[in-house]
Amino acid sequence: MLPGDKSISHRYALLAALARGTSRIEHFSAAADCQSTLDCLRKLGVKIERTASAVRITGAGLNGLQHSRRKLDAGNSGTTMRLLAGILAGQPFDSTLTGDRSLQRRPMRRVIEPLTQMGAEIHAGHEGVAPLKIHGRKLAGIDYTLPVPSAQVKSAILMAGLFAEGVTEVTEIVPTRDHTELALEEFGVHVGRFERTLRVTGGVELRPRDLTVPGDLSSGVFFLAAALILPESSLVLHDVGLNPTRTAVLDLLAGWGVPISLLSVREAGGELVGDVAVRHAPVEGGEIAGDEVAQLIDELPMLAALGPFTEKGIEIRDAKELRVKESDRIAVVAENLRRMGANVEERPDGLRVGGRSAGRLHGAEIETHGDHRIAMAFAVAALGAEGPSTIRHAECTDVSFPGFFESLDKVVER
Ligand code: S3P
Repeated sequence: MLPGDKSISHRYALLAALARGTSRIEHFSAAADCQSTLDCLRKLGVKIERTASAVRITGAGLNGLQHSRRKLDAGNSGTTMRLLAGILAGQPFDSTLTGDRSLQRRPMRRVIEPLTQMGAEIHAGHEGVAPLKIHGRKLAGIDYTLPVPSAQVKSAILMAGLFAEGVTEVTEIVPTRDHTELALEEFGVHVGRFERTLRVTGGVELRPRDLTVPGDLSSGVFFLAAALILPESSLVLHDVGLNPTRTAVLDLLAGWGVPISLLSVREAGGELVGDVAVRHAPVEGGEIAGDEVAQLIDELPMLAALGPFTEKGIEIRDAKELRVKESDRIAVVAENLRRMGANVEERPDGLRVGGRSAGRLHGAEIETHGDHRIAMAFAVAALGAEGPSTIRHAECTDVSFPGFFESLDKVVER
């Protein structure tokens, strides 16, 4: 079974913590990243209980968070750090947000800038990196256009908007995942949408909700890719999130000749959910560039590692954001594909990976740089390589998918 969607789990936890009363979130992600969000919320005085299948979160209302004397540790999770920064910016107390070595290298100016414009005072390390010392203030709404397409930055501003006086507007030039907007509506906060501008009004009390998190399509993609690498495979992923801002990968693969069908599509908690069926077929390959990059961002390591199994190879452009993810995903993907004998050209904003005609991959020692999506992408590529591969620091898959290797084993055996 796929883990609960990581992006949605973070958002449900954060919003449940701001609601007055108890929310019950079924199929909450077991990912270490989502655990970081829960740990931070506990330090802020939120009551959280885990049952076998669910998380119960009891919030004390919009103004119910309490000062934490201890640092709030977001671990490896950019979503935890950026979304929580938005919430903490509007609190009547100070907080320190930190993270692991990877997160302490990732760019935070993109949230510091708009939150400061709203009235918060935030101190960061050199070059705008964590730890972040956030002096919460009375915030005022702003009208902000995102300079980088980022759902995390958009969400940080919308979260801060809940605490701001008046109206907060965010405009995105390139659409990104809209789980925050949908979740806010579920918790009782209206989000106005005018073309590419979103609008929230501060001071609205959130109502607790019972919700179920859909399966994580970004985790499911590793199995889809495995089915495309291993001849005669067929696979059905059940109860997967099919939010249209997340399914670009399915459209892309379908356009490359992969027989994909969606079954039992329904709506739950404002999100689309359904089953995805795929059969092994030749994958044409091609180019990924422009606006579609933002909605494929987490799938690009797997797509790049699928490159050597495609007819034409894969070229990724306009994706320099990949360099500031959990690792420099352009450099790390290129390095590991080369280790496996692929034909790769690294570019500042992407890479070009040769297709089948460049020859079969061979097994290699894979250096994950502690990046969960690199470990999973190359575990799948290794299934199609000649000879064994070793994935170093494979435990990093726990960041988004505890039990990944056991699941892969089961799926491949059948
Ligand atoms: C996420 C947004 C994306 C994505 C990340 C999760 C989210 O990051 O890469 O894995 O949950 O909002 P950016 O907002 O930095 O693009």
